[in-house]
Amino acid sequence: GSPWIAYTDGELVVEDVPVNRLADEYGTPLYVYSRNAMRTAAASYQDALAGRPHLVCYAMKANSNLAVLQTFAEAGCGFDIVSGGELARVIAAGGDPGKVVFSGVGKTRAEMRQALQAGVRCFNVESEAELDVLSSVAVALGVRAPVSLRVNPDVDAKTHPYISTGLKGNKFGIAHQQALSAYRHAAALPGLRVVGIDCHIGSQITELSPYLDALDRVLDLVEAVELAGIPIRHIDLGGGLGITYTDEEPPEAGVLIGQLLKRLDERGHGHRELLFEPGRSLVGNAGVLVTEVLVLKPGAKSFCIVDAAMNDLVRPAMYEAYMGIVPCKPRHEPTRPWDVVGPVCESGDWLGRERELAVKAGDRLAVLSSGAYAMTMASNYNTRPRGAEVMVDGSSVHLIREREQVPQLFAGEKLIRR
Ligand code: LLP
Repeated sequence: GSPWIAYTDGELVVEDVPVNRLADEYGTPLYVYSRNAMRTAAASYQDALAGRPHLVCYAMKANSNLAVLQTFAEAGCGFDIVSGGELARVIAAGGDPGKVVFSGVGKTRAEMRQALQAGVRCFNVESEAELDVLSSVAVALGVRAPVSLRVNPDVDAKTHPYISTGLKGNKFGIAHQQALSAYRHAAALPGLRVVGIDCHIGSQITELSPYLDALDRVLDLVEAVELAGIPIRHIDLGGGLGITYTDEEPPEAGVLIGQLLKRLDERGHGHRELLFEPGRSLVGNAGVLVTEVLVLKPGAKSFCIVDAAMNDLVRPAMYEAYMGIVPCKPRHEPTRPWDVVGPVCESGDWLGRERELAVKAGDRLAVLSSGAYAMTMASNYNTRPRGAEVMVDGSSVHLIREREQVPQLFAGEKLIRR
């Protein structure tokens, strides 16, 4: 996964800090992130775009801790948000709302007002009906909302089975055939100002070709829309670039961008401002979830029961996702296959199946690639407090979120008066 998270002197370290030391100090389950892994990932996008007008908008749904946002803001990134809550986080982290794009199929009027007042850079609009609502909210505030239309490029699913959101027949985006009339509609509304076009074709994409197909479809539309007299300033190609969880070999961001720029140049669009909305590829391999082995239940099927569960990391339970699991301090003893499971009362509560490990109770394991869609998807199911988060930067360690305490979990609840 990441050169910043590796074994040194027989134990797992994040940058210069042994993971076991962090678990001793902060307890488990614990999310540990490498700040330099995040910076390096951002730079891989930005370096490839150097010399071109561009903005990398980190899709903060992947990991929205304020210190993570701060790290990307300092690196010059903007943010892709999907709620008023995420906008509040950007502002709390010192991010610039003028570098925010607001995505999502269902924005409320209150969220639209909040984003207009904050001065976001662009609303990524997903339906004609949303255009009308946004225009009326903007008119009431006496402003014009900058808009981009999220178009659905309908890239071929058969050759690219992992792509789901870029296909017709799902809830996202405006169908290619409707896009031109939607742009005419947008341009005619008093509260809107057309600034761009966007698409997002899916997540954990490991091939280049769907991106190039999508770009071609988007450029066809840009040409048609501009021919109709509506200028398009930026092209936002969304996020979706995959990472290595096990044996995937996704293209590097620089390679992907190089190919996209080449296609843009060939088609005479090299001058355009480009936006991207990467989430997973900026943070996924920059983090691990550290957990302690509670008990072992060897048998016909052997269970290794750990203190992290589906509420801390739902990807295996929800998507049957594979996440690498490694010991923080490997034992030089024979291994056997273990199902690594959590304490939650559900059969779906597993982190890994049939993993060859040599473990004893009290050992710590690290679930790899847990920088993205881990803490942000955590819940309090079974009244389990969410884990702490730490950020490692060289040899410095920063506690960036305290472990939740049980009383916080029911602080807003009320007994019925009798
Ligand atoms: N832009 C839009 C409009 C999106 O919907 C998403 C992700 C992104 C950008 C960022 O995509 P990324 O670069 O992270 O692939 N919870 C799932 C992933 C859901 C992705 C949803 N949309 C998981 O754990 O695999």
